[in-house]
Amino acid sequence: MSEQVKGQRQGPEEKRLQGHWLLAKMGKKVLRPGGMEMTSALLTEAAPQAEDDIVEYGPGVGRTAQILLSVQPRSYTAVDPNLEAAAELAAVISPHPQARRITADAADTGLAAESVTLVVGEAMLTMQSESDKLRVMRESLRILKPGGRYVIHELAFTPDHVSPARIEEVSRELARTIKVGARPLTCAHWRELLESAGFEVCYEWQNPMALLRPARLIKDEGPLTFLKFAANVLRNPAARERVGAMRKVFNRNRDNLCAVGFVVRKPI
Ligand SMILES: C[S@@+](CC[C@H](N)C(=O)[O-])C[C@H]1O[C@@H](n2cnc3c(N)ncnc32)[C@H](O)[C@@H]1O
Repeated sequence: MSEQVKGQRQGPEEKRLQGHWLLAKMGKKVLRPGGMEMTSALLTEAAPQAEDDIVEYGPGVGRTAQILLSVQPRSYTAVDPNLEAAAELAAVISPHPQARRITADAADTGLAAESVTLVVGEAMLTMQSESDKLRVMRESLRILKPGGRYVIHELAFTPDHVSPARIEEVSRELARTIKVGARPLTCAHWRELLESAGFEVCYEWQNPMALLRPARLIKDEGPLTFLKFAANVLRNPAARERVGAMRKVFNRNRDNLCAVGFVVRKPI
């Protein structure tokens, strides 16, 4: 028997990490496809305020949590089943006594019905199956008070008439490269799903999928964090290979990928 322990994974962690955790490990904070520009547009429309009880699904390292907490809402609850970024999120939310994090799935939060006024989830539905996307949307409807807003920011296929074969091909390429079962929908399909869950669509916004393009990286992260991220990636051969492969897949499929966001409302 070789010195390898049977069943133990070999090679650096950077080869195995899901794409978003790899980028976070390298120092990237904005892990959603439409960047901060799209987050700002969606949050301007949803207008979080001090009277809000806010839930955020899949907050990652807490970049949007910072913005949501800056309005000093009545409460803020982060819902994430994974602990990878719990420490980074804790650093963001711990100065705010009304903020907490619960370890739970967005499809089954355990939160009381009609207990919150704003739900935000970015880049967390795309990785769910279609039935789980709908479960998360229905859970949002359940926990929101009538009139409450739900914001999503996800990866989409474009144009709406893109062929099923092309969707299949790009989904497979994405899943292989980012090591997450990525299942984007067309913008029209995202809208249909939100409506079928019971929401009224108030606002839709699209942006190019430019997560790893230098101009977007600088805009999202700021020059200093961008430089640190770039240096971390360049210094680490396994990360360099993975991030390079991700960039290639995003670039190769840029005509069929975009970011889409919606602000929807629970009917009164
Ligand atoms: C791509 S990262 C996006 C992080 C952050 N929202 C952002 O846009 O920068 C996906 C996030 O969703 C979380 N997540 C994955 N599945 C989830 C689920 N079923 N419920 C809630 N969060 C989930 C992950 O742990 C991670 O924090």
